Amino acid sequence: MPDAAIEFHRVEKCYGGRKVVDGLSFDVRVGECFGLLGPNGAGKTTTLRMLLGIAAPDAGAIRLCGEPIPERARIARARIGVVPQFDNLDPDFTVHENLLVFGRYFGLNAKETRELVPSLLEFARLEHKADARVAELSGGMKRRLTLARALVNDPDVLVMDEPTTGLDPQARHLIWERLRSLLARGKTILLTTHFMEEAERLCDRLCVIEEGRKIAEGAPKELIASEIGCDVIEVYGPDPLALRDALAPFATRIDISGETLFCYVDDPQPVHAQLKQRDDVRYLHRPANLEDVFLRLTGREMQD
Ligand SMILES: Nc1ncnc2c1ncn2[C@@H]1O[C@H](COP(=O)(O)OP(=O)(O)OP(=O)(O)O)[C@@H](O)[C@H]1O
Ligand SMILES: [Mg+2]
Repeated sequence: MPDAAIEFHRVEKCYGGRKVVDGLSFDVRVGECFGLLGPNGAGKTTTLRMLLGIAAPDAGAIRLCGEPIPERARIARARIGVVPQFDNLDPDFTVHENLLVFGRYFGLNAKETRELVPSLLEFARLEHKADARVAELSGGMKRRLTLARALVNDPDVLVMDEPTTGLDPQARHLIWERLRSLLARGKTILLTTHFMEEAERLCDRLCVIEEGRKIAEGAPKELIASEIGCDVIEVYGPDPLALRDALAPFATRIDISGETLFCYVDDPQPVHAQLKQRDDVRYLHRPANLEDVFLRLTGREMQD
C-alpha cells in the first residue's frame, strides 16, 4: 500500500451543467481517520461515489489503495468496506443471510462467512437478531447491520457516508468505540458526518467542503485554534438583537443564529458581569468546538 490510502487530485463532477464537485484535492494517509464535512448538498456523497467508481469524474485523478479509479475500481473495492448514506440491505433476508450474501459477493465461501458472522454480529450488538428479517429491524439496527456488513471482507479502508445518522446516543457511542478499535488495528477510515462531536472525537484530519470546493483542512484542534481561538458564551434570551448591542463592546465577535447569540470572548468576565444583571437570559460558557468552526466557515443560516 502507498503512503496515501486515498488520493483525490483536482477532481470535478458536473450534474446538469452545474459543478457539484469543483477542483477537490485531498489525501487520506494509511491508518488515519479523515472526515469530509460540509452542509447538505456540498458534494460529499458525490465525492465518495466517485472514489468507489460508481460515478465517473469529469476531470482530475483519483487513486484508492494505489489503484487508479475508475479504471481499477473493481480491484480496489476488494480491499474496501463501504457504508452508503442510505442502507441497501435485502429486506426479505435475515440478518445472518444478508451477511452471507455479502460474503459471497467478496468471493468468500459459505463456511468462511459463517465463521465470521458471530464476531460481526457482536460488533453491531445484533447477536439477538441473527434470524430476524431485515424488514423487521428498527432503523438504527439496520444501520448497525450495514456497518457490520462493511467488515465482511476484512477491509483495509472503510468508506462511510454518515455512519451514525439515525442512531441513538448509546449506539453512536458504541460505534465510535468500535471505529476507534478498527483504527487501532491499522485500518484507514474516510467518513462524512454532520455530527461535529463525532468528527472532533474520531478524525485525525478533516476537510470542510462547500459547493464542491474545499474551504478548510486540518486537524480538528488546529482548525478550532485557527478559526475561533477563544471561548464562546452562548446566550439564550427574548431579544437577541438588543442583547447583541449590549454585549458587543465586550466581545471580539457576536453571531446570531435563530434565538441564540454566540459571543466570542478573549476575556469572559465583562460579558459574565453583564449577563448576571439580567434574569431573562440563560447562558453557557464553553471552549470553542468544531461546530463553531463549521458554522463560522459555512454560515449560520441554513443552506440547500
Ligand atoms: N445523480 C444526480 N443527478 C443530479 N444531481 C445530483 C445527483 N447526485 C447529486 N446531485 C446534486 O449534487 C449536489 C451534491 O449532492 P451530494 O449528494 O453529493 O451532497 P451531500 O454533501 O452528500 O449532501 P447531504 O449532506 O445532504 O447528504 C446536490 O446539489 C445534488 O442535488
Ligand atoms: Mg450525502
